[in-house]
Amino acid sequence: MKLPHPHISFFCLCVLLSSSHASNTIISPVSAQKPCDFPAIFNLGDSNSDTGGLAAAFTPPNSPYGETYFHMPAGRFSDGRLIIDFIGGIFASLMPREEYFSKALYTFDIGQNDLGAGFFGNMSVEEVNESIPDIINKFSANVKSIYNLGARSFWIHNTGPIGCLPYILANFPSAKDSAGCAKPYNEVAKNFNLKLKEAVVQLRKDFPSAAFTYVDVYSVKYSLFRTPKRYGFELPTVACCGYGDNEYNYSGTAECGQLATVNGTQFIVGSCDRPSVRVNWDGIHYTEAAAKFVFDRISTGAFSDPRIPLKMACRRALID
Ligand SMILES: *[C@@H]1O[C@H](CO)[C@@H](O)[C@H](O)[C@H]1NC(C)=O
Ligand SMILES: *[C@@H]1O[C@H](CO)[C@@H](O)[C@H](O)[C@H]1NC(C)=O
Ligand SMILES: *[C@@H]1O[C@H](CO)[C@@H](O)[C@H](O)[C@H]1NC(C)=O
Ligand SMILES: *[C@@H]1O[C@H](CO)[C@@H](O)[C@H](O)[C@H]1NC(C)=O
Repeated sequence: MKLPHPHISFFCLCVLLSSSHASNTIISPVSAQKPCDFPAIFNLGDSNSDTGGLAAAFTPPNSPYGETYFHMPAGRFSDGRLIIDFIGGIFASLMPREEYFSKALYTFDIGQNDLGAGFFGNMSVEEVNESIPDIINKFSANVKSIYNLGARSFWIHNTGPIGCLPYILANFPSAKDSAGCAKPYNEVAKNFNLKLKEAVVQLRKDFPSAAFTYVDVYSVKYSLFRTPKRYGFELPTVACCGYGDNEYNYSGTAECGQLATVNGTQFIVGSCDRPSVRVNWDGIHYTEAAAKFVFDRISTGAFSDPRIPLKMACRRALID
């Protein structure tokens, strides 16, 4: 089977998932079953989960992107690895074989750009909120197309708390919650996730032979803003690599890796001292440390609906 032109951006991280390490920490009915034998993973998402598509098609990120893990820019919009890298294991990459398309795991991490484009595109919070059903309908249509190409195992992340990100906080003064996040913006993200979850329920009805796992990444990310110290993090709403005349260390005119001019002096916007204890990398995206934190929690299935761990994501329900 040849893949015809996909209707959405198609970034592919093709990896072998080791099926030898059975998870022994999960107590759930599925743990009695055999792990899924995914020969490949196809990821569809924005720059929070892009391992090089945007860099290949447009502008690759500069140093200090990549500094923590790759020690050079590696096409990722982080200081290091992304959640998808931890899901796949970056050394296991290989080109997909034809039969992999139906057996593969398809992961989705979508929403932040759809909402962000609205907020920065002169739309009010209410207008962006009202555009959500349209965004979700397009998402469902794209998932149907991918299903029709043979995909059967879908692992769908919801969108994160966009109101906790410096690029929102620095640009749109608004009411804050106890974590210091912009409340109305997070309300929109939560409404997006509600509609996304409903869409996933509908997809399960439409395609009973496929497995759709909805993953609550929002809650895991939000815990990093609510109680960062508990998890060894600090300054979650401050960009590690940024520059800004504000408490968020962010400005759209002096972004991470760019040449900035302040008081007549030029400098490259660089990294903070300890990205390993930081949540936000460049004002928009998360650090490797945050990605690892999220991966460790979501891979167990504790945040999945149904409560299926990553290795079992070809299963439809808890009953065998
Ligand atoms: C932004 O919104 C204002 C008020 O609705 C409108 O007058 C203006 O034309 C819009 N600008 C753009 C670039 O859409
Ligand atoms: C967003 O729209 C939903 C209805 O889809 C509504 O219940 C909610 O109050 C709205 N939220 C905001 C922040 O406008
Ligand atoms: C730029 O100049 C202003 C006013 O003299 C000063 O307050 C500010 O700290 C300077 N910024 C930097 C980065 O040197
Ligand atoms: C803000 O970004 C600069 C790089 O421009 C970095 O050196 C500094 O440590 C950052 N501040 C914080 C509080 O992370």
